[in-house]
Amino acid sequence: MTAAPAPEPVVAPGTYRIPDSKRSFTADELNGDDAVDWIPDDHPVAPPVIWHYRPHGPIPCAACHYFNGKGFLHMPDLAGLPRSYIVQQILEFRSGRRKSYHKGRVGTDRMIGVATRLTDAELAQAADYFSHLPRRPWFRVVETDTVPATKPDYYGWFDLVKNGGTKPIKGRIIELPEDWDRSWIEDPHSGVVAYVPPGSVSRGEALARMGGNSAVACATCHGPDLRGMGETPSIAGRSPAYVARMLWDIKSGARSGPAVALMQPVVAQLSGSDITDLAAYLVSLKP
Ligand code: HEC
Ligand code: HEC
Repeated sequence: MTAAPAPEPVVAPGTYRIPDSKRSFTADELNGDDAVDWIPDDHPVAPPVIWHYRPHGPIPCAACHYFNGKGFLHMPDLAGLPRSYIVQQILEFRSGRRKSYHKGRVGTDRMIGVATRLTDAELAQAADYFSHLPRRPWFRVVETDTVPATKPDYYGWFDLVKNGGTKPIKGRIIELPEDWDRSWIEDPHSGVVAYVPPGSVSRGEALARMGGNSAVACATCHGPDLRGMGETPSIAGRSPAYVARMLWDIKSGARSGPAVALMQPVVAQLSGSDITDLAAYLVSLKP
């Protein structure tokens, strides 16, 4: 028996525009193998690996991470990460040391596939490109008891249920586009709202100061403003779903290796609600 084909996110037939671009793209272009570049002036000239699919090559980076490094939902922002960190993470995906605690998670498995197909020359170009991108705000944080109704998507994010009313947040964090239809066609100027539980931002701030129960503040390694230090990545203003997932991946051992070992004592004592609070606080910071 062959596995059912993955349901690819598809754009309905038509021609599309976004407010900040003079370009238009058809559904075929938006659904195609190459990534569409709505606003070329927004970013440095991108090498082919970022946007162009070569047969048997990796899916182009911008198809998932966008040209600005932000990506759709639940994605790590790559803009301005240290070059050496980007290179190292690709090697970690290749080596099998970086997986998801959620076995079979589609996004992570696809990223592992990309890392495996990438040539070393393409990796050098991609790392140069993303490490030089400017860091820009992307999230608006809303502390709330209720969130727009959503349903889990095959890819792990939550789909908006249009006209679905609201639901209790129930201690979760929900990421939703500011404008679902603009984000669905990858508008790079349409950001994301992070709905977080009431009080989570200040609880998370206290935890970050104390490093959970480890008594080592996150700032010790991630820098005074948590925007990264040396080769240690920024954790400020990044997707809360991604941050929470990484803390679980590290805690569970699914993401392991010498550099991540520094994080082990920090995550060991964190509870599920601590992780939510930290992710809520971190997304409230300037990226
Ligand atoms: C099919 C979608 C997809 C494509 C294409 C893709 N990525 Fe990713 N990438 C992801 C996902 C999802 C993650 C988060 C993985 C996880 O949860 O462990 C990720 C994570 C990463 C990370 C780790 C970021 C961090 O903060 O640790 C780097 C670096 C990265 N990607 C680089 C690239 C580069 C370079 C390319 C192009 C050659 C690329 N990706 C193409 C989906 C993709
Ligand atoms: C002793 C040093 C140290 C401390 C303290 C520390 N971290 Fe880290 N953290 C690291 C290193 C190093 C990495 C990168 C690991 C790698 O290269 O794979 C990392 C990675 C991360 C990542 C994944 C980033 C990404 O892009 O995938 C998150 C999220 C994170 N740390 C959150 C925290 C939080 C929250 C705290 C405080 C509660 C904290 N860290 C405290 C050293 C530290």
